[in-house]
Parts: sequence; C-alpha cells; structure tokens
Amino acid sequence: MGTPGRAGTAPVRGWALVTGASAGIGAEVALRLARRGHPLVVVARRGDRLAALAEQARREHGVEVRGVAADLSREEGRASVRGVLDQLRGPIEVAVLNAGIGTQGEFVRLDREREVREVRLNCVAVVDLAAHVLPGMVANGRGDLVVMSSAASSQAIPYMSTYAATKAFEMRLVRGLDQELRGTGVRAFAICPGPVRTAFHRLGWGKDLPRLMPTESAGSVAARVVRVLDRRRRNPVVASGPLAPITMPLTALLGEAISAWGAGRYHRPGH
Ligand SMILES: NC(=O)c1ccc[n+]([C@@H]2O[C@H](COP(=O)([O-])OP(=O)(O)OC[C@H]3O[C@@H](n4cnc5c(N)ncnc54)[C@H](OP(=O)(O)O)[C@@H]3O)[C@@H](O)[C@H]2O)c1
Repeated sequence: MGTPGRAGTAPVRGWALVTGASAGIGAEVALRLARRGHPLVVVARRGDRLAALAEQARREHGVEVRGVAADLSREEGRASVRGVLDQLRGPIEVAVLNAGIGTQGEFVRLDREREVREVRLNCVAVVDLAAHVLPGMVANGRGDLVVMSSAASSQAIPYMSTYAATKAFEMRLVRGLDQELRGTGVRAFAICPGPVRTAFHRLGWGKDLPRLMPTESAGSVAARVVRVLDRRRRNPVVASGPLAPITMPLTALLGEAISAWGAGRYHRPGH
C-alpha cells in the first residue's frame, strides 16, 4: 500500500492513476483524489507541470505522488507508464483515463497525422491502460475505472467527426466493461461532460468557447468524478454539467440522422 493520507484527514487508500493531469480536468481530479487519500501516479507530457502538481498534492494532502512525463499517443510513452505501475507497492484502486485531444474542421482538410494521433490518445491509450490495470483490480476484488468521455459520445458530429467517434468509442467500451465486470467488485464509468472551460478548445480548435455558452468548470467535473466513486450506485454513463443531461437524451430521441444533420449545421466552419 502507498503512503497513506495524513493521520486523521483521510482513510488509507490504494493508488490512483490519473492521465492528462498536467492541466484542466485531470489536474483537478488528481488533487481531489489526493484529498480523498489516494497516493497518485500522474501522467502527461509536461513534466514541469506534473512536478508542481505533485508538490501541491504532497504539501496539502500528504500523499505520495509519482509523476510520469509520457506521450500516451506513443507506445514508448505507454510502456513507461505500464513500467511505473508495475513497480508500485500496493494495489491500484482508481484509474482515471482522462488525457485527450480534440480536432475540429473539414475532415478532408485536417492534418492526417494529427487525426491518427487523436485516435491513438483517445482510444488506443485508453484500451492499453485499462487492459493493464483491470486484471489486478479484478484479482483484488475492488477498483474503479473512470474514462473521461464527453457528451459528444452520444452522436456523430460533423466537422468534429474523429473526436466524436473517439468519445463514442470510450463510452461504448465502458458500457461493455460495466456488464463484463458485474460481480467482480470492479466498476467502470464514462464521465460525459458538456462544454468545460479549459485550454482544450483553444489547443484543439484554435478558439475558446462562446462567452455565453452554459459551461461547467474543470473543478465541477472533478467533484462529479469523486461523487461517482463515493456512491454505491453503478450507473456507468454519467452526463455532467448543465447541458449534457439535456443534449444526450435529446440526441437519442431525435435519432442518429437528424442529430448529425443538426450538429453539422451548427459546427459548419464559418457558421
Ligand atoms: N473541455 C471540454 O469541454 C471537455 C468536454 C468533454 C470532455 N472533455 C474531455 O476531458 C478530457 C480532458 O480535457 P481538458 O478539457 O481537461 O483538456 P486540457 O485542459 O487540454 O487537458 C488535456 C490533458 O491531456 C494531456 N495530454 C494531451 N495530449 C497528451 C499526450 N499525447 N500524452 C499524454 N497526455 C496528453 C495534457 O497534458 P500535456 O499537454 O502536458 O501532455 C493535459 O494534461 C479529454 O479527454 C476531453 O476529451 C473535455
């Protein structure tokens, strides 16, 4: 077992893995899991940011933190994370597979390598790390896998076609795992936020969210993750924020074709 939380502040917990912990939602999730008493393995490419996060988590919550600077879209990066996980003393109790990027624009004009990298990060890395941690969780009879999907998982989105497909992949993966894992003591969740104000939109799409759009903060998504872990219910797909609980059932009601047509009208470049 890893270093416990400070005496009197949190129960002793197993390790929590958080990918994409250098910024945005992942950084907030990592700090909240540290407060919950988990020693952390945090992963992203920017090691300096991980070091700052580790320092904050140790100082404020007294937990052990291992930072792994790795590019999860590459096999070498994923291998280094698997290597660190294999060296841990004590079980992995929570894995939050959150690292992700999004691209936007006409598919035929987008950078091919970036589209492929998006699939490697949003899909391949999730399968790779889930496959690495789940057998140990099942053997221990406990654990939680959390995948940061999106409200975009519920429909095809023209001009964000690859991104929406990767998020649907994650959501469907979790739905399948949820059934497979019944009776093992291990749970799987897909968190599906609507728009969240992070650097994500600027980095991937070159612009911030519209100022008046109803959004959710990264901290609020992270708080949702912890509430999901704390409760006994196991609804595997969790719509988060002000919009997702409306848009996800609505798109299901409208059906694939009409939802895709409407989304295409909204997201068409220049609209
Ligand atoms: N923001 C939204 O509106 C929104 C809505 C729904 C779902 N989501 C999902 O939430 C997740 C987190 O998004 P966010 O808004 O927090 O974005 P963000 O602020 O851009 O953070 C993305 C995180 O992923 C890491 N990352 C990116 N590429 C990586 C790579 N190749 N290898 C390892 N780590 C990598 C980044 O760290 P480095 O750059 O240091 O590598 C960063 O820590 C994503 O999966 C996204 O699809 C976001």
